[in-house]
Amino acid sequence: MTDPQMVLTERVQQALANAFGPEHADADPLIRPSQFADFQANVAMSLGKRLRRSPREVAEALAAELSDFPGTVEVSGPGFLNITLDDSWIASGAAGMLADPRTGVGTTMPPQTVVIDYSAPNAAKEMHVGHLRTTIVGDSLARIHEHLGNTVIRQNHLGDWGTPFGMLIEHLLDIGEETAVAQLEAGMGTEFYQAARRKFDDDEAFKLRSRVRVTTLQSGDPDTIRLWHVFMDATVRYFNKVYSMLGVTLTDADIAGESMYNPMLEKTCDDLESSGVAVMSEGALCVFPPGFTGSDDKPLPLIVRKSDGGYGYASTDMAAIRYRVHDLKSDRILYVVGADQALHFRMVFAAARLAGWLPDTVSAEHVQIGMMLGKDGRRFKTRSGESIKLTELLQEAVDRASAVIADRGYDDETRDEIAHAVGMGAVKYADLSISHDSEYVFDFDRMLSLTGNTAPYLQYAQARIRSIFRRGGVDPATATGPIVLGHPAERALALQLLDFGAVVAKTAELNEPHRLCAFIYATATAFTAFFEGCPVLKEGVDAETRASRLALCALTLRVLESGLDLLGVPVPERM
Ligand code: ARG
Repeated sequence: MTDPQMVLTERVQQALANAFGPEHADADPLIRPSQFADFQANVAMSLGKRLRRSPREVAEALAAELSDFPGTVEVSGPGFLNITLDDSWIASGAAGMLADPRTGVGTTMPPQTVVIDYSAPNAAKEMHVGHLRTTIVGDSLARIHEHLGNTVIRQNHLGDWGTPFGMLIEHLLDIGEETAVAQLEAGMGTEFYQAARRKFDDDEAFKLRSRVRVTTLQSGDPDTIRLWHVFMDATVRYFNKVYSMLGVTLTDADIAGESMYNPMLEKTCDDLESSGVAVMSEGALCVFPPGFTGSDDKPLPLIVRKSDGGYGYASTDMAAIRYRVHDLKSDRILYVVGADQALHFRMVFAAARLAGWLPDTVSAEHVQIGMMLGKDGRRFKTRSGESIKLTELLQEAVDRASAVIADRGYDDETRDEIAHAVGMGAVKYADLSISHDSEYVFDFDRMLSLTGNTAPYLQYAQARIRSIFRRGGVDPATATGPIVLGHPAERALALQLLDFGAVVAKTAELNEPHRLCAFIYATATAFTAFFEGCPVLKEGVDAETRASRLALCALTLRVLESGLDLLGVPVPERM
């Protein structure tokens, strides 16, 4: 364990138990970073009050217990403990990280099975910008949980079933399979849907055909199922284009769309009804989980079977949660889905608990994704009003990135590679670096900026470290120190690096990639200060200092690389 805050917490807890009795061993010593020392422990203030002793006296007793601590512990003011770590302690922590193939990142004990439901675009419409964010955040969480040694099961809950498929299949027949496939593969799902919709509204015969088609689809008629596959396969090929541009880890094996649950819905409803969890209300089968009321104070229903006998979104989610607990044996289920579905998920989780399908040992968590806004503060759209095609949006990011690095003298191929990494990195990092539930303004200029908390800044920081090693003719793997801290910027950088493992663990615990982003950004900033204040390769730098600084560079590089990789942000060799 290298995280100083955690080490300190344990040491101060020990001191508390020694000085005031074992009942204080679990008290939170309230360790915070401080501007007067490395850390401050504030526990004496509250404990003094409780023990009716002066906080200063309490603090002094703690300081005495901590006399063998590798650092200085001073009492200040009314009873704060100011703690400064010894340089040698920090240096050996950094050296330990460097020697550790996992760079200070632990593993979840015991490892868990984490089901992550993310991306989940709807096939009957275009994959839209909102799905971009659930895809990017979900993918980062998948990488992080996996890195911590958990078994991650990705579930792409595609909207691939339901009544619109009647008219979609009829429209496909009207325009011909080949034309339809070409359109769908090109990402024209919205246009396809709209054309079908127009006919449905204007043309009685088409409407009738569409209705019949829904029935034949649901009854499993082989011809209709084949047409459904033609439609879905082409649509998924377009989704895969988007995933591969983004470098997202989802594959076809992760597809577990709504259609997959269709055969389970009847039994799902029967079981809910026979156990009394669901009851008939106005012809529909409903669960009324306690604590949910509408504006009129009436209990709110989760409708699992509509009055016409049809199933809907909630029916599928009830079947899905049961499958994920029972068949996939999950310990945690994460739903990375728009914040506007919060009520739906709270009700599904509550209903599943009632049914006994979601035991207390399994946690179901809605990772709420905030809405994407345009620069004007409204829902993100093009000027003409239709939603933006994702492949075009992503291509624009790459083109703009290419312009940003235009003057660096790279050949075309290298430049394309870097532009792709920078463009995709920028789009992804912008989504990840603010808390996932806040609304988010999509702004190319800001996300592609080379300064500030952006992917290009971080990618540049790691590329700069690589160039130090290139220039010095040193392989980073051989830069093992020993680390000796002298300059304040060296010390600050090393202290910052020690937090990596704790930050990754916290990010996974709370499902908040923006924590990892903030840490990586702070690391890059600390490195910049180090780089400006501490020459590495310059003539006159003695061999010992050079070796130590190269080791710090190597550790920083590893942390930046691995941190960005956990976010799914590509790391170009040069920039
Ligand atoms: N397809 C849905 C949408 O676009 C998201 C599905 C999320 N997952 C789930 N299990 N409901 O809104």
